[in-house]
Amino acid sequence: MAMSRAVAAGRMAGIEPFRVMDLLARARALEAQGRDIVHLEIGEPDFPTAAPIVEAGCRALRAGHTHYTPAAGLPELRTAIAADYARHGVALDPGRVLVTPGASGALQLVLAAVVDPGRRVLMADPGYPCNRHFVRLFDGVAAPVPVGPDCAYRLTPELLERHWTADVAAVLIASPANPTGTVVPRAELEAVREFVTNRGAVLVVDEIYHGLVYGEPAASAVEPDGEADVFVVNSFSKYFGMTGWRVGWVVSPRRWVEDLDKLAQNLFLAASTPAQYAAVAALAPQTAPLLEARREEFRRRRDYLLPALRELGFSIPLVPQGAFYLYADSSALTSDSEAFSRALLDEAGVAVTPGNDFGVHAPERHLRFAYTTGLDRLQEGVARIRAFLDRMS
Ligand SMILES: Cc1ncc(COP(=O)(O)O)c(C=O)c1O
Repeated sequence: MAMSRAVAAGRMAGIEPFRVMDLLARARALEAQGRDIVHLEIGEPDFPTAAPIVEAGCRALRAGHTHYTPAAGLPELRTAIAADYARHGVALDPGRVLVTPGASGALQLVLAAVVDPGRRVLMADPGYPCNRHFVRLFDGVAAPVPVGPDCAYRLTPELLERHWTADVAAVLIASPANPTGTVVPRAELEAVREFVTNRGAVLVVDEIYHGLVYGEPAASAVEPDGEADVFVVNSFSKYFGMTGWRVGWVVSPRRWVEDLDKLAQNLFLAASTPAQYAAVAALAPQTAPLLEARREEFRRRRDYLLPALRELGFSIPLVPQGAFYLYADSSALTSDSEAFSRALLDEAGVAVTPGNDFGVHAPERHLRFAYTTGLDRLQEGVARIRAFLDRMS
């Protein structure tokens, strides 16, 4: 019998690669050929995980903590995460915290629970690339709302009003946001919550860059009583410098906990056990000064890179208050940010992410610069970009 080939599911056509990962692979291939590359594309801290966290992970392995935890997570980690919300003045019930494989796992749990096929999820464009694909995975419809400097790159209640339809299942916002670093002020967060929950939809707030904030601490959307349909997603990846450990969490409204737990049991059984023990140490008071010193270093980097890029001709209308990215308008220098990024990597050995990773709103006019490498490398990157632009003109 002739071989008959299976065809990929229809949803695969709607799922694009996470371009920054492709860019990173290209940069690594050039490095393998002996090229020196300045990495301004990587969305993770360059610091190794802090020693007390690593030690706790090693201790857990040596103690034989290599079996599954409950699907909702290690009880002592859930308790430690809940206790940490005291900084926001919230006495959180650990029963509302579910530990997940990164914020990625948390976002998938929540969207699986709330999105029916064909229903829309509103999100800011530009925004975190994977969100629209998570929605597609569950046969929902990602509805990107263009945001720019006029609304500080945020999905405001006015924009929600303008884009609202009866089939909106959820609104997904991030504070601080990737790629713009914008932080949602408390009053606006309140107004968005009220707008969304009054219309029978769910609000999902991604707080993965909490802690990496350079002005006022960011407000959290966590609700003390857990009655409103607001999910807060977070992770140990960024502020805690644990990207590769794969631990995050979601704070769920009470009535959704059982559904999320059921999904977690089926989808991933549990987050990594030794990583969960390490995460307990990440929240210990002794670790805090180490993490704060790193945050200060990120601020120094931002304060160097922002004016340096402006001087080169990139426009960055707002000073980002959080995360470790600068989302720059490159239209004074190029009309095609993707081609620019490719040429910059190949010819100057500087990797930056083109806007098309983050959505469809003017991507050709934007580049994202991550300050996740040391000051000396940022300076080297800026010098190379200057020389590259001189050659172009
Ligand atoms: C806004 C945002 N949300 C979620 C994630 C996923 O992070 P993780 O799964 O490592 O926690 C990222 C990663 O870059 C991100 O930028």
